Amino acid sequence: MADKKAQLSIEGLDQPIELPVYSGTKGPDVIDVRSLIDSGYFTFDPGFVSTASCESEITYIDGANGVLLHRGYPIDQLADNSNFIELCYLLLNGELPTEEQYKEFDKCVRNHTMVHEQIANFFKGFRRDAHPMAVLCGVIGALSAFYHDNLDITDPSSREVSAVRLIAKMPTLAAMCYKYNIGQPFMYPRNDLSYAENFLYMMFGNPCEPFEVNPVAAKAMDRIFMLHADHEQNASTSTVRLAGSTGANPFACISAGIAALWGPAHGGANEAVLMMLDEIGDESEENIQRYVDRAKDKDDSFRLMGFGHRVYRNFDPRAKVMKETCDEVLEELGVGNNPKLKIAKRLEQIALEDEYFIERKLYPNVDFYSGIILEALGVPTNMFTVIFALSRTTGWVSHWNEMITKGVRIGRPRQLYKGHTERDYPE
Ligand code: CMC
Repeated sequence: MADKKAQLSIEGLDQPIELPVYSGTKGPDVIDVRSLIDSGYFTFDPGFVSTASCESEITYIDGANGVLLHRGYPIDQLADNSNFIELCYLLLNGELPTEEQYKEFDKCVRNHTMVHEQIANFFKGFRRDAHPMAVLCGVIGALSAFYHDNLDITDPSSREVSAVRLIAKMPTLAAMCYKYNIGQPFMYPRNDLSYAENFLYMMFGNPCEPFEVNPVAAKAMDRIFMLHADHEQNASTSTVRLAGSTGANPFACISAGIAALWGPAHGGANEAVLMMLDEIGDESEENIQRYVDRAKDKDDSFRLMGFGHRVYRNFDPRAKVMKETCDEVLEELGVGNNPKLKIAKRLEQIALEDEYFIERKLYPNVDFYSGIILEALGVPTNMFTVIFALSRTTGWVSHWNEMITKGVRIGRPRQLYKGHTERDYPE
């Protein structure tokens, strides 16, 4: 049912076209353009700047005011009071779990952490020096070959099993990507450890000696997981939805999401931030200013990585929490004097006071600080985006599940054709 009506007048048409307008619980109203095709028109919106591709109840972002809500709860409240497993339950199910539901869900995730033993052989087909994101993309896509017992996407309980499998196995597979890369043996998961502890154990432990997980590192890692868990219809989530709209299985859809996340304009930015800080290298004022000037120069392709966001035009609320965590972690790990952090802080300061960045509303985003924390925790740069993918898996499966539950038509955008008109093949 339309809440309002919009009228579209087009030169040459006798009558304006009437279009329904719907209101969400928050955010701008949307004009339903689905019937436009009956009048012979398409809409044109490359980059989906003004287009809502679906109806969703999972996450809300108000970019102008720096608001991020998951199922209505502000991200800073969740980061302070909740944990990643509870957030996964919330994103998937719509409500916070009771104590009993939490215990059951947590146990279920812990029970699914191990991966099919044959997957280790699958890894061996990759070069050791391959980028871990390339390996992750392939391995996640291959999961449907290992777990084909629950691939009936029309069955809600099959969808639930696949969602839990993905959330539970991602840390194991992400750590395997790292271990394979550095030539160490894979570590089996330990189900007595929490989600974040277990990931750190599988990353940094080895079979030759006991490994104590640092509680500061585990807390920071859990926070990183939470702050990356979901972000409504971003490029990778939209990719998962588009792939899922064809009826493809969830493992294939998440693999497509991982591929989309890899780009430096999206999840690859946390890796790009560290590469940029490395490139800047020298912390002198003139050197840093030189890079800021390069970022402003339209003839130079250099951009300040970790700055700017399509939706946030005030501040990124995740970056605020991440910055606090960053300060805490570096202090507690005793690496507060890290030269890269000094460059990062100066860059942030210059950019926040510079007309170019102020005018364009370019603020540090979540990736600006997450890279610095990950580096302080000893995570190599090429694993940063893998950790983003691990965290975002819960958002991806929640959106995929919501889409199937609500019913979906195959996603099939149209185009403005600017090519040749029909012509004859030369004789
Ligand atoms: N450094 C310098 N200039 C910039 C930057 C930057 N990081 N970001 C945007 N601009 C300029 C851009 O050149 C343009 O200037 P003008 O109006 O003079 O042509 C203006 O700001 C608007 O930029 P845009 O490219 O039209 O904005 P967009 O919404 O299409 O792109 C973005 C958003 C995030 C891709 C972009 O800001 C960017 O490339 N940032 C660096 C990469 C990054 O940190 N990405 C992580 C995003 S947060 C994590 C995630 O959600 O994946």
